[in-house]
Amino acid sequence: MHNGHPGSRSSEPYLDKNAILEALAIRPGQIIVDAGCGSGYMTRLFARALGGAGRVYAIDRTAPEISDDEETPASAVIYPLTADITTVIPLPSGFVDLIYLSNVFHIFSEDQVGGFNRQVRRLLKPGGRLAIVDLVKRPTPIGPPLDMRRSPQELQGLIDLAPAGLFEVGEYFYLQLFGKKD
Ligand SMILES: C[S@@+](CC[C@H](N)C(=O)[O-])C[C@H]1O[C@@H](n2cnc3c(N)ncnc32)[C@H](O)[C@@H]1O
Repeated sequence: MHNGHPGSRSSEPYLDKNAILEALAIRPGQIIVDAGCGSGYMTRLFARALGGAGRVYAIDRTAPEISDDEETPASAVIYPLTADITTVIPLPSGFVDLIYLSNVFHIFSEDQVGGFNRQVRRLLKPGGRLAIVDLVKRPTPIGPPLDMRRSPQELQGLIDLAPAGLFEVGEYFYLQLFGKKD
């Protein structure tokens, strides 16, 4: 985080993970991308929700280190990848059911938003979904300056997919879901 939590890049302490999992309604067998996964704390919860069937690709531009977790026996479904999620995500087209992007969108430049949109549209299956978690656009004790943040409505104007639900997932965070129709 940018302030309020020195030394940590993780939004983990501030997020309602159960609310996120409820909003995502993950089903066994799905292919999930945790884009900009950081420490991978959601990667492990996604793996658990898959119940051993499916895959979670944990992708970050700095080599993801997803530690084993005794509570996540399904860690065999986790595939760490090092890649820039705004240029080339090294997975086949039409392969992915859900892309999850938490606390990353506000970092993107305009060009990176364009590149991320192209990767998302290429990777998602028809009916696939994109979930963006980010900070609300009002003063909060943590997080980036307000001019770096996007409201859900602003996000809807920047993402090339249909809005499919807005959820509160912590005092300072929202989750905006999008769906790919074609
Ligand atoms: C603030 S951390 C968020 C980590 C985690 N998703 C969370 O919610 O706690 C941002 C992460 O995005 C990664 N990241 C930023 N830009 C990226 C890019 N273009 N490609 C891949 N990873 C990126 C960073 O390396 C970092 O791990």
